[in-house]
Order: sequence, then structure tokens, then C-alpha cells
Amino acid sequence: MSSRNITISWSEYKDISELNPEDRELVIAARDISVKAYAPYSGFNVGAAVKLDDGTIITGTNVENAAFPSGICAERNALATAISNYPSRIPVAIAIAARNSNGLTADPVSPCGNCRQVIAEEEFRNGKPIRLILTGSNKFQVIEKGGDLLPLQFNRDSLKA
Ligand code: THU
Repeated sequence: MSSRNITISWSEYKDISELNPEDRELVIAARDISVKAYAPYSGFNVGAAVKLDDGTIITGTNVENAAFPSGICAERNALATAISNYPSRIPVAIAIAARNSNGLTADPVSPCGNCRQVIAEEEFRNGKPIRLILTGSNKFQVIEKGGDLLPLQFNRDSLKA
């Protein structure tokens, strides 16, 4: 028997002005697009902004459905849009922001398990980390590699004999 440990590191900021200009731009794009979310069932309006390796920013929101599981999260929506429209580009960062009836959430929004899996697939495919910028109104968490939120992940290597 051997015991193993996993440690996750991230940086935390209190004010958007503390972020570097590129991250700040991505956060603003995520915040801006979140107002266009279609989330009549949860009232939780999420925006995601994906930055590609050429600097292009692609945004998306959550899109809900009366058949609840048919809805999609903002992160997967933005990533799928980026991947399908820019197949030769590599996503390097994603910012996530959300609003409820009180406005921007106080706490940073972290991607759900499904989205973590999709982010990890993209990192694995490209061999490049995707920087996550999780945002609340006055709290920002920057994680250098999305896959860090999905330890012991299932990936294409898991399919090998
Ligand atoms: N949601 C996202 O779009 N991203 C997240 O990171 C968390 C949850 C959506 C799914 C659903 O439409 C609503 O937020 C409430 O869970």
C-alpha cells in the first residue's frame, strides 16, 4: 500500500485591477456575455470567454431547456464554439462569470464536472494548459491548468488496453 496526495494551487485576487490586462479583458468579456444567458429555469446567468492562442476571444452563455439535462453550460458552449469555428487554434484561457438576481455572484464560479472533463480533453488534445479565471464580484481565482481541477482524470489514454 502507498498513500498519494494531490495538491492544487491557485492565485487569488480581490480586485479586478490586480489582474493582468489580458486576464482583465477576458473577465470583462465573460461578464458582458453573461447578461445574454438563456437561463429562465435557474435564474443563474453564466458567461464564459475563451481566449485562443492568436488572441481571439470567443464567448458563450449557458442555454437552458425545459428538459433540464438538454441545457448546456456557458463553458462548454464557448469552448465548442471556439473549437468548431477555429479548429487550428488552441484555447489558452477561459474566464467564467455569473449573475443571479442580485447581480454578479460574490463568490467565483467554478466549472461543473462535465465542463472540467471537456476542458481536460482540450488540454490533452493540444498538450497545452488552459488557464482558468474564476470570478466573483470581488474575488478572482486563477488556476494555471484546468486539468488540476480534475485529478485522476479519464482521458484518451484510459481507452488504451
Ligand atoms: N452553469 C454554467 O453554465 N456553468 C457553471 O460553471 C455552473 C453552472 C449553468 C448550468 C445551469 O444552466 C445553471 O448554471 C445552474 O446550474
